[in-house]
Amino acid sequence: MPSERPRRNRRSAAIRELLAETCLTSSHLIYPVFVCEGKSVEEPIKTLPGQSRWSVDLLSKQISEWKKMGLKHYALFPKIEEKLKDPYGKESQNENGLLARTIKTLKDAHPDIVLYGDVALDPYSSDGHDGIVRKNKNGVIEILNDESVELLAKMALKQAEWGADWVAPSDMMDGRIGAIRTLLDQHGYTDTGILAYSAKYASSFYGPFREALDSAPKAGDKKTYQMDPRNHREALREVKLDVNEGADMVMVKPGLPYLDILADIKASVDVPVAVYNVSGEYAMIKFAALAGALDEQAAMMECLISFRRAGADAILTYFAPAAAKFL
Ligand code: PBG
Repeated sequence: MPSERPRRNRRSAAIRELLAETCLTSSHLIYPVFVCEGKSVEEPIKTLPGQSRWSVDLLSKQISEWKKMGLKHYALFPKIEEKLKDPYGKESQNENGLLARTIKTLKDAHPDIVLYGDVALDPYSSDGHDGIVRKNKNGVIEILNDESVELLAKMALKQAEWGADWVAPSDMMDGRIGAIRTLLDQHGYTDTGILAYSAKYASSFYGPFREALDSAPKAGDKKTYQMDPRNHREALREVKLDVNEGADMVMVKPGLPYLDILADIKASVDVPVAVYNVSGEYAMIKFAALAGALDEQAAMMECLISFRRAGADAILTYFAPAAAKFL
């Protein structure tokens, strides 16, 4: 006879509820949403079944519904028209541009929601990179660090002026958190938070997102700034730098293949930690479910719980409405 019987603690649903070590509620979720120009537009995204690009009027209506399910946090990703893209992503600072109008409209209609602006050049850049691109003498492209940081800080300041509650630099340039914090503070935006994409890996799981925004790099890849998936200690280094430069919350991205990184970051810093359950992770479950390979809702909940179990305080996920509904 076994002397220990762990199964006794699992013998009924009520006991399992009592002893569950991890909880997930809709207040832990941040919903990444895609915004496009126009009126009454909903453009479904082929590689992200169930997700769309919304024009601002419809997005605002949707948020009224999502709010009822407890979703208060929205990360905004604008789809910039090709003709507005240039090597410096100038459109990212346009006072009357899509993102500016979106933030203002949503904040007017929903003063109770929390908005996150993405800080990186790629949706605005004719090169499709997160920073400024230059070709060196040998014809190899380089992403300029310090010049990019200067632009990114200006972009963050604009987003704060338009009303973003958080700016979220996803570009992985060195020193951008400090530069952004300094510029925000100089202009009185001491309450605008910085959610740093600190450990962002060069991942194949961003495919559907790049399709949604048509933002894939035109040449080269992002490996000189995003992290190498083989590295672990480097993530802790990136996180420490960002915290020292003033990050209010740090993030790991993608989520599922990097739960080890998430757990160790959680143990090593005292700021909140977020995880981005990225587009490819969402697509995997969606397409597997559509093919009848697994139960979508159960798989979704298992993944979201795994992030909480590994230490995530906040989860960015395209599953936010589906999960909130379930919860
Ligand atoms: C760009 C950015 C990316 C994502 C968020 N911000 C893509 C990339 O780095 O190429 C990916 C999100 C997702 O896949 O859901 N700075």
